[in-house]
Amino acid sequence: MEDKVRQIETEGLQAISSAQNLAALENARIKYLGKKSEFTGLLRSLGTIDPEERPKVGALINEVKTKLEQSLCHKKIVLLQSEQSKKIEEEKIDVSFPGKGIKRGRMHPITQVMNEAKDIFLGLGYEIAEGPDIETEYYNFDGLNIPPDHPSRDMWSTLFVADDVLLRTHTSPVQIRVMKKRKAPLAIIAPGRVYRRDSDATHSPVFHQLEGFLVDKKVTFGDLKGTLTEFLRQMFGEDKKVRFRPSFFPFTEPSAEVDVECMMCKGKGCRLCKGTGWLEILGSGMIDPNVFTAVGYDPEKVSGFAFGMGIERIAMLKYGIDNIRLFFENDLRFLEQF
Ligand code: PHE
Repeated sequence: MEDKVRQIETEGLQAISSAQNLAALENARIKYLGKKSEFTGLLRSLGTIDPEERPKVGALINEVKTKLEQSLCHKKIVLLQSEQSKKIEEEKIDVSFPGKGIKRGRMHPITQVMNEAKDIFLGLGYEIAEGPDIETEYYNFDGLNIPPDHPSRDMWSTLFVADDVLLRTHTSPVQIRVMKKRKAPLAIIAPGRVYRRDSDATHSPVFHQLEGFLVDKKVTFGDLKGTLTEFLRQMFGEDKKVRFRPSFFPFTEPSAEVDVECMMCKGKGCRLCKGTGWLEILGSGMIDPNVFTAVGYDPEKVSGFAFGMGIERIAMLKYGIDNIRLFFENDLRFLEQF
């Protein structure tokens, strides 16, 4: 019996010390000290052995039991500690590790220039109005003093959707829409997309315009000059010279094309301005009395000016871009420069 107890002690201590984890240790406890273990069996059978031997064997069994229990307890602490440090190691966060980084989007250059232009006019007290991209001939032409079959319709290479339905060729129809609905005084800008059958390095079938018009009593050409000069100086720089050149639009009389001193050569004449020293920026003029009549205003009582500019053109001149397609190809190497 003593040998058996010693054997259990050796095996048990061995099993305990070689347990790799808490589950293995628990298995060793059940096997060597559990209710159904050989060891517990021996303890129970103590009553059946020779009374002479009993105290000695009993003491031995107790000694081994204590040893096994202490060993179990000790091993349990060791395993708990190592499992905990393993967990800490696994869950460790290196706060100095570089982050994934958030890719920031940015505003498209056309949106940026459009916003800049809008902000300048908002600062001058203008309000924003919008109209539909798909228009009728009335708003795009007739209302603007461009009768059917009049040669001036050729100024715009129109894209038709159906009979009498077209993609607006300019933002000027918004003038008619607003004036038909509202009374003077008005100071309005109308940003939006316009469409023309036109395509080369500087023309795209879809592009953006910013229209503007002001109607009140006694508005003069001087007001037009002052307003557009202020706008162009804020847009291109306070030091820039501005020039008003006679022109023609069916819906303005008189009409003026507005040029700004070439920003590349500062007026000396270069490739960009084709040697003239000037860059054509926008069309403008005093609203034609026929337009006022068409919207139900009395041209004897009110006067006003209107202007329209191409946003792509302004962006190209401002940033020295020579191909309009760069705005629509969405090549990030281009877009990320703005
Ligand atoms: N609508 C004209 C164009 O697209 C520009 C313009 C607007 C001219 C308002 C005069 C007044 O060419």
